Amino acid sequence: MSEDGFWGLDLDSIVKEHGTPTYVVNLDLVEKNFEALSSTVRRIYSRFKIFYAVKANPLITILKLVRELGGGAEVVSMGELEASRRAGLNGGEVLFNGPGKTEVEIEAAIGFGVYSVNVESVEELMTVRKAAERLRVKARVGFRVNPGVKAATHKYLALGFQGSKFGLDAKSYRAALHEAKRTRRFLPMGVQMHVGSQVFRESDFQKGFLNLLRFVNVFKSVLGFPPEFIDIGGGIGLNYETGDTSISLNRFSRALSKLVNNPDWPDGTTLVMEPGRALVGNAGILLTRVLYVKESNGRLWAIVDAGMNDFMRTALYGVKHRVVSLTPRRGRPVKYALGGPVCESSDVFGEYVLPPLKKGDLLALLDVGAYGCSMSSNYNGRPRPPTLVSRLGRVHVAERRETIDDILRRQAVG
Ligand code: LLP
Repeated sequence: MSEDGFWGLDLDSIVKEHGTPTYVVNLDLVEKNFEALSSTVRRIYSRFKIFYAVKANPLITILKLVRELGGGAEVVSMGELEASRRAGLNGGEVLFNGPGKTEVEIEAAIGFGVYSVNVESVEELMTVRKAAERLRVKARVGFRVNPGVKAATHKYLALGFQGSKFGLDAKSYRAALHEAKRTRRFLPMGVQMHVGSQVFRESDFQKGFLNLLRFVNVFKSVLGFPPEFIDIGGGIGLNYETGDTSISLNRFSRALSKLVNNPDWPDGTTLVMEPGRALVGNAGILLTRVLYVKESNGRLWAIVDAGMNDFMRTALYGVKHRVVSLTPRRGRPVKYALGGPVCESSDVFGEYVLPPLKKGDLLALLDVGAYGCSMSSNYNGRPRPPTLVSRLGRVHVAERRETIDDILRRQAVG
């Protein structure tokens, strides 16, 4: 993200009107990211579909934009399915994933006519069958396989390693295919995998893709026809030091070329991708004010009004996000530790060299468009921040700030 006036927005008046902490998402940048990915992939293989991973940022406004751009939604819950529906996506534009789908979710997904329910166990396939029987339809199913790749990323973000909870291993995959062949309730559509998130190593993508092709061959040999789609998941990494995805995107696309040019790649198959972070990660900032500046045993602290409940990536994965000060001040930059208001020592965003800070100064935490507001909570009794979106210079509230009433509403005092 460029720092020239921050996307041309008047952040001071935004904050005057809406307060802090506040997320701002730049939809023009989401569009640019979408186009960058599409044009890169189009040069390699023209028959593809992008299903945006809604978990990265579930704003209906973003889903509407993705739909306008020709994309669909990858969802993993009833909430995400409903958000997609409200964004105007139809069944064929939604892909249902996740290792623990409930019967209710499966039935809703099939009833909605999703492109595919990607199953992760034989038991889940049986649950899909029952739902299809109840609805008297054939269920379009995909098979999420475990690619057996230990991606070089944070250990919580590596999902495709052998023995992980995700996907079918080779043996259960075969069993699932045979089961799908045996009954008439299924339309076996495709094979899917996801190596993990924040992937930067070409070999991680490549190993995953090659293993996926082995599963594709088994699909063909058991069912007698090639899959209609091959889904390579998401995972393109965002460099949080620069706010840029191009390094990972280049490596991803090199691995992708090898995949679609492999003799085992079935002609005419649709390539499916499920990017999350690559589309929205660098398009969001979190505005926060300095509440207090203090020194503690020689360390200078700025306590800000955004905490780990608003943005938990640093507390959870130890990732440092860039911070800029938006209040112009003269003077030599100083090192500050930035801490939030939450009563945990993990509620610290890191150490930053910034121009001298004073109470009330405005800061922005960068690259928080993915897994920011979607992972926020009410911890410490804190209402979640609003998200404002900007598009072609106009700003609107896409999600209002939560109120104290919102967070206490569900309680019954006996
Ligand atoms: N497809 C599947 C099946 C996934 O599980 C995920 C993310 C994606 C696609 C999108 O991955 P992406 O393109 O965004 O890397 N909370 C973590 C990220 C967890 C991602 C989980 N799965 C974070 O803040 O980094």
